[in-house]
Amino acid sequence: MLKVGLLGAGRIGQVHAVNIAGNARSSLVAVSDMHQPAAEKLAAEYGAEARSSDAILSDPAIDAVLIATSTDTHSDLIEAAAKAGKAVLCEKPVDLSLERAQQCLKAVEGTGKPVMIGFNRRFDPNFAALKVSLQKGQIGKAELLAVTSFDPAPPPVSYIKVSGGLFRDMMIHDFDMANFLMGEAPVTVRAVGSSIVDPEIGAAGDVDTAVVTLTYADGRIAVIKNSRRAVYGYDQRVELLGSDGLLQAGNMLENTVVRSTVDGVVSGKPTYFFLERYMPAYAAEWQAFVDAVLDGAKMPVTLKDGIAALAMAEAATESARTGQAVDLKG
Ligand SMILES: NC(=O)c1ccc[n+]([C@@H]2O[C@H](COP(=O)([O-])OP(=O)(O)OC[C@H]3O[C@@H](n4cnc5c(N)ncnc54)[C@H](O)[C@@H]3O)[C@@H](O)[C@H]2O)c1
Repeated sequence: MLKVGLLGAGRIGQVHAVNIAGNARSSLVAVSDMHQPAAEKLAAEYGAEARSSDAILSDPAIDAVLIATSTDTHSDLIEAAAKAGKAVLCEKPVDLSLERAQQCLKAVEGTGKPVMIGFNRRFDPNFAALKVSLQKGQIGKAELLAVTSFDPAPPPVSYIKVSGGLFRDMMIHDFDMANFLMGEAPVTVRAVGSSIVDPEIGAAGDVDTAVVTLTYADGRIAVIKNSRRAVYGYDQRVELLGSDGLLQAGNMLENTVVRSTVDGVVSGKPTYFFLERYMPAYAAEWQAFVDAVLDGAKMPVTLKDGIAALAMAEAATESARTGQAVDLKG
């Protein structure tokens, strides 16, 4: 049984608490949050203790921590947790700064402790099945990837200001999906972005609509489209063209009813947002982490994977700003 401390009791921390407490191989021992009442409320729901992050990290009875605090705290907490001998699952992105994330990797490697980054979409049953089909060779060699990722509505501008920008905060998931499916990092990143959904996002120095093209050493291509607004719900699709065929993974719908009349054919909308779409993915992600720690297996998503996606986000941010393609360093 893995004894777990949860750092961060916000939106995503609450999702992880359900999975930690509900998993047969883990138990939620303690919760911290810089906003103490949030930690107390969440801890009480699961019979856990509210403690400071330091108290969690220094408790030898705690085997692992899940870091679900704000992004600017991730590298510091990953390092502190690994040095304290804990296995770590940390939410994406690793950091707002690639340089800081790379320092974090060096520090963690010295400890030998396992660190997983929370790219939950790899564990979505649809995307996972698509990957299995690809691995079985059912479409031959993957040659052209298209990832569509639209949020239903933009977050508050206060969130945008501390998020690191669309490429680090939102498209980071799609960069990881590209790495997951194409099996390697691209060599060049080209990005175009604009703020047509909300001019206030533009005034805050960010974009809300963006397209990125990734090119690979052997000429393969991936295209990622992001928008902070899709009025019909959370639009999360992948299309992968291979030498022997096509794989597509579509949206999860609110219901399976299809109404066909003389006016046309209407089906349910995509589920509203990530909490609805990815609940099974968060549970599978946690299961994969627990199994890897308890069975001594390799982490299914590593800190290096987190850094690879962050490097792409930094390159895309620069490319969108300058209008120039950015080559990724090996
Ligand atoms: N994988 C996903 O699908 C997904 C979804 C949402 C958020 N996230 C990531 O999770 C992280 C948290 O996002 P959120 O939406 O839950 O934010 P949030 O603001 O709702 O929650 C963050 C919590 O962390 C607490 N906190 C901040 N600094 C702290 C510190 N040093 N020590 C202890 N507590 C601290 C805050 O008080 C807050 O309660 C972000 O990095 C975000 O990118 C990932």
